Amino acid sequence: MAILRMRLKVLVTVMMVNLFIFIIVSRNSNQDKQGRHKVRIPNKRFWSKLAPNQAYWNLQQQILDFQHNPILTTNSSEMPDWLNNTELTSDPCQPLYRVTTQVKDYNSLPGRFKDFLLYMRCRSYPLLVDQPHICNEPPYLLLAVKSLAPHFDRRQAIRQSWGQAGVVANKTVVTIFLLGNATAVDHHPDLSEMLNYESARHKDIIQWDYRDSFFNLTVKEVLFLEWIQTRCPGARYIFKGDDDVFVNTFRILDFLKGLSGPKARDLFVGDVITNAGPHRDKKVKYFIPESMYVGTYPPYAGGGGYLYSGDLAARLHNISHHVALYPIDDVYTGMCLRKLGMAPEKHKGFRTFDIEEKYRSNPCAYKSLMLVHSRTPQEMIKIWAWLNNPDLNCQ
Ligand SMILES: *[C@@H]1O[C@H](CO)[C@@H](O)[C@H](O)[C@H]1NC(C)=O
Ligand SMILES: *[C@@H]1O[C@H](CO)[C@@H](O)[C@H](O)[C@H]1NC(C)=O
Ligand SMILES: *[C@@H]1O[C@H](CO)[C@@H](O)[C@H](O)[C@H]1NC(C)=O
Ligand SMILES: *[C@@H]1O[C@H](CO)[C@@H](O)[C@H](O)[C@H]1NC(C)=O
Ligand SMILES: *[C@@H]1O[C@H](CO)[C@@H](O)[C@H](O)[C@H]1NC(C)=O
Ligand SMILES: *[C@@H]1O[C@H](CO)[C@@H](O)[C@H](O)[C@H]1NC(C)=O
Repeated sequence: MAILRMRLKVLVTVMMVNLFIFIIVSRNSNQDKQGRHKVRIPNKRFWSKLAPNQAYWNLQQQILDFQHNPILTTNSSEMPDWLNNTELTSDPCQPLYRVTTQVKDYNSLPGRFKDFLLYMRCRSYPLLVDQPHICNEPPYLLLAVKSLAPHFDRRQAIRQSWGQAGVVANKTVVTIFLLGNATAVDHHPDLSEMLNYESARHKDIIQWDYRDSFFNLTVKEVLFLEWIQTRCPGARYIFKGDDDVFVNTFRILDFLKGLSGPKARDLFVGDVITNAGPHRDKKVKYFIPESMYVGTYPPYAGGGGYLYSGDLAARLHNISHHVALYPIDDVYTGMCLRKLGMAPEKHKGFRTFDIEEKYRSNPCAYKSLMLVHSRTPQEMIKIWAWLNNPDLNCQ
C-alpha cells in the first residue's frame, strides 16, 4: 500500500513538472509569435569592424575569406580599401615585389621566406612527367610518396617493399612518387637523364616544374590534390607520405576493410598534433616569424604520412582554393580540414616519432603498426621481409 502511494506521489510530481514546462514553453512561443511582426533594428553596428591583420598570411586569408563571402561581395561599396586588392587580378605566378615592403622585416628574413612570399599566390605549375592512365582501373588504395629527384634508392626500396603495386591482400594498390624539380639554384646536379630512365622503366613518377624545396611542399600538396581530381578521381583511399617512412600496407588494408558509411567517407587519420603553434626560434626548421603568421595551428596530421578517403580528397581540393598557402604542408592540410569543419583523427598505429629503440629490431613490433618514421632503404626491405615471412609468429 505504502509503495503504491509513493508511486502515485512520484507520478503526480512528474505530471506537475511536465505541466509547468509546458506552460513556460508555450508562453515563450507566444511571445515569439507576437514579437515576429515587430522587426527590431539595432541602432548601431553590432559586429566588430574587420581590421587588417599585421601578419602577412593572416591578411591574405582575410582577403580570401572576403572574396569568397557572397554576402559581403554583393555590395562592393562596403569594401574597405585594404581589401580592394588590385593584385588579385594580376598574374599570380609573377613574383609579387610589393611584399618586400609590405612585410616589415622582409629584408632580415631567411632566404626561404623571401622566396615563399614572392611566389605565395602561385598554385599551378606545368606537369613535366605524368602517368595519365595509371588509374584506368581505379585503385582501392593510392600510395602517394613525396620524394626528391636524387632519392633513387628510397624509391626503389619502396617499390620492392611496402609500395609494391598491383594486387595486395586482394585489393588494387597503385604507387606513385611526387616530384618537383631539383634545381641548380639549390646546387643539385643535373639528374634529368637518370630520372627519364627511371620514369620510363617504372611509370610511377609524377613531376611538376617547380623548385622542390621544403617551403614548396605545400605547392606539392595542392598540385597533388588537383592531380587526383583529373587523373585518379576513383581512388577509394589515399595514403600520402614521405619517402623515408616504412608503411605496413597489410595493416592499412586491414584497417580500411573494417570501415563503412560516414566513417569511410570522412576518413582522415594519422599522427595528429594538437595545440601546436608556430616556432619563434630562428634556429628551428619550422620557425615562422610573427610578421608572417599569428595564432595557433589547427589539429594536423604529421606530414610523415596520413591516410584519407578519395571522397574527402575532392572536398580538400575545392576548399584549398579558399586557404592561403602556408609554408608548412601538413599544417596547411590541417587548415583546409578546419575550413571544412573537420579535424584529423589520431591513430596510434602512425608512429612519426618512431617506436622505442628496444623494439626496433623486433619483427613483431611492426605487425600492428601502420607507419614508422624514419627508416633507411635497407631497413624497409628488411622489415618487409619480416612481415612476409610465413613463419613469423606473434601473439
Ligand atoms: C550597399 O551599401 C551602401 C552603404 O552601406 C548602401 O547605401 C547601399 O544601399 C547598398 N547597396 C545594396 C545593393 O545593398
Ligand atoms: C578599388 O580600387 C580601384 C583603384 O584603386 C578603384 O578604381 C575601384 O573603384 C575600387 N573598387 C572598389 C569596389 O572600391
Ligand atoms: C578476393 O576478392 C574477390 C572479389 O571481391 C572474392 O570473391 C575473393 O573471395 C577474394 N579472395 C580472398 C582471398 O579474399
Ligand atoms: C629543372 O632543373 C634543372 C636543373 O636546374 C634545369 O636544367 C631545368 O631546366 C629545370 N626544368 C626542367 C623542365 O627540367
Ligand atoms: C617554389 O617554386 C617556385 C617555382 O619554381 C620558385 O620560384 C620559388 O622560389 C619556390 N619557393 C621556395 C620557397 O622555394
Ligand atoms: C567542388 O567544386 C565543384 C565546382 O564548384 C563542384 O561541382 C563540386 O561538386 C565540388 N565537389 C565537392 C566534393 O565539394
